[in-house]
Amino acid sequence: MNRFPKSFLFGTATSSFQVEGDNIYSDWWFWEQKGKIKDKSRSGKICDFWNKYEYYLDFAKDLGSNAFRFSLEWARINPQENTWNEQALNHYDKIIKAVKARDMKPIVTLWHFTLPQWLSEKNGWLNKDSLGYWQQYVEKINKYFGKEIEYWLTLNEPSIYCYKGFLEGTWPPGKTNIINAFRTLNKLIRAHRVAFSVLKQKDNLIGIALNLPSYEIKDPWCIFNILIAKILTHYSDWGFLKYIKESIDFVGINYYFHNRFLCNPIKPINFSGENTSDLGWGIYPRGIYEVTKKTYQICRKPIMITENGIADHKDQYRAQYIKDHIDWLLKATQEGTPVIGYLYWSLMDNFEWQEGKIPRFGLLEMNYQTLEAKPRESFEWYKRIIKSYRSIL
Ligand code: BGC
Repeated sequence: MNRFPKSFLFGTATSSFQVEGDNIYSDWWFWEQKGKIKDKSRSGKICDFWNKYEYYLDFAKDLGSNAFRFSLEWARINPQENTWNEQALNHYDKIIKAVKARDMKPIVTLWHFTLPQWLSEKNGWLNKDSLGYWQQYVEKINKYFGKEIEYWLTLNEPSIYCYKGFLEGTWPPGKTNIINAFRTLNKLIRAHRVAFSVLKQKDNLIGIALNLPSYEIKDPWCIFNILIAKILTHYSDWGFLKYIKESIDFVGINYYFHNRFLCNPIKPINFSGENTSDLGWGIYPRGIYEVTKKTYQICRKPIMITENGIADHKDQYRAQYIKDHIDWLLKATQEGTPVIGYLYWSLMDNFEWQEGKIPRFGLLEMNYQTLEAKPRESFEWYKRIIKSYRSIL
């Protein structure tokens, strides 16, 4: 049968800092003020999801989706050390209820790259007590929402965070130091395990969202090529997966990249393809199939595509991009890989970290002045795709 089971989760993904607006206690809010964003923009109100969540969730429902991924902003909930914002917790409760009221399953991420500024000022994850602070946060979340949520994602793309924050230096804390990159990665492995043990109940599923690119070794006879591929794969979310695969119920895959390793010390890796997104990322739909199968071989756990998307302001590739990726995903399921969902990144255009407001990943086109969202043509296409790929039985 050329369809996914009825229970398959089709939907979209977002993250708090990128859509909510006015996250004034987050480290990224301070980072932006230092002029670190390429287009010099500030997130400001961005999509104002915090206040207008019903408006956006109506679009998500209209798509025919039955899942919606969003994250909780640690800094909003815990704006100062030992201070908990009950109002924010109650507000998140309203968002969860609004998602459910539209027959969508909330897929909730606990940490999507941002830290409370107070913790960041104390060295963030490198602080000796960071796991204790994290545990307090997760316990609070569990107390409030433990009974309401079936699908949790503990962390988002831990190795990307370490790369950007400690090697490239383009994200907070922006202090390049390779030892600290590894120390932070190690902390995040432990943070995942802490969250798993706090949240785990018999009727919920705990996952993590990992950035898992597909790989291709262009010159298999080139030792340099093989070595680089091995090192980079190990110190990426692929390596991370191996450390946490015992404490996980499902794996969330964020699929964006196909990496071609080249026998070239100056440019050892190439992401581009025949067609590329506005950010220059090559389009390679077959990779989602390869990555899904490989992940299953490694950990034998169900898989959810927690992100897959393209920056395409003209909306010229998006509909085909979604269809092609879903076709390859379907092939993986037909060959026996248990895939439980596909979430497109993102429902609406949003704040693309150091790239600011220019990249447009949304099915909804944002007007950041009027805060109006307008469905792009690909929105209608995704709607049709969901309809035709989901089994009615
Ligand atoms: C991240 C998102 C980001 C998207 C597009 C993912 O790696 O989880 O926060 O916006 O990629 O770059």
